Amino acid sequence: MLDQANGLREKMKNQQPENPGRKAGKKTRVLAVTSGKGGVGKSNFALNFALSLIEQNKKVLIFDVDLGFANIEVLLGLMPRETIATMIEKDLAVQDIIEEGPNGLLFISGGNGFNELFQMNDLKLEKFFKELGTLHGKVDYIILDTGAGLSYENLRFILAADDVILLTTPEPTSVTDAYSVVKMVQGIDPNVHLKLVVNQCISEKEGQQTADNFKQATEQFLGKEIGSLGCIPSDARVPEAVKRQQPLLLAYPNSESATAIRQMASGFLQLPLPYKLGLKGFIMKILFK
Ligand SMILES: Nc1ncnc2c1ncn2[C@@H]1O[C@H](COP(=O)(O)OP(=O)(O)OP(=O)(O)O)[C@@H](O)[C@H]1O
Ligand SMILES: [Mg+2]
Repeated sequence: MLDQANGLREKMKNQQPENPGRKAGKKTRVLAVTSGKGGVGKSNFALNFALSLIEQNKKVLIFDVDLGFANIEVLLGLMPRETIATMIEKDLAVQDIIEEGPNGLLFISGGNGFNELFQMNDLKLEKFFKELGTLHGKVDYIILDTGAGLSYENLRFILAADDVILLTTPEPTSVTDAYSVVKMVQGIDPNVHLKLVVNQCISEKEGQQTADNFKQATEQFLGKEIGSLGCIPSDARVPEAVKRQQPLLLAYPNSESATAIRQMASGFLQLPLPYKLGLKGFIMKILFK
């Protein structure tokens, strides 16, 4: 794992610098949702954040890259016909594996029991990501629902994305693991754009305090500034929506947690867009070519 991280560090050093002269906005941006500890609410956040962006007239695709686990489709109560696994197996085009969920939400399933994306030979990997590249300009956002923790796969997705939303709960175990993610990422590429979301807060004050302490620690000890998108209350409506296999935003649109996520999406859309390469840059970085 450490050897692989060192390899990634070397490769990131050789990447092209960002070109600040070009305009941002017309391209497909890639947004990774991640966490240190598992089970903090990434998949629910990714799904409802995507639906919030759609409410604001954005075209969004969720790509479930927590490979081997079928998070998003279960939350949507959908059975995808095709997945990344079958795409590779049957040599399909990316258009063939895109499913349509509620409100025009697009999604790609990783496929149950499939976790070999980065173990594939270079040719197959390149073919897969080039195929993904055909989506450039067709959607505004691709949201990656990653697995938890610092696996090699997760790191590759985090390092390649335009923006990374890092979820934690106020629990110290979750906060410490989120800090480890920042430390690892910062050691490889200090230019990664990280934004914090504190989920499952019992009060606004608790959420704010968690975010403030986290930001202070990363600035002081890692020299990394992290913006905060805010906090989401702990809300019984979230597990209720999961049990109904309906997204929270549709099942309980006026719940406290849905309102918080909607506000975050508005805040996110107001943020200045630093120039990033979007989907093309993502693919270049993932393939390190
Ligand atoms: N704001 C919230 N309030 C209450 N419960 C929540 C909230 N957000 C998430 N949960 C609950 O936390 C659990 C984990 O959520 P989710 O599956 O989205 O996490 P995850 O980070 O994607 O997990 P994994 O790491 O296993 O992929 C679910 O049971 C969900 O109902
Ligand atoms: Mg998940």
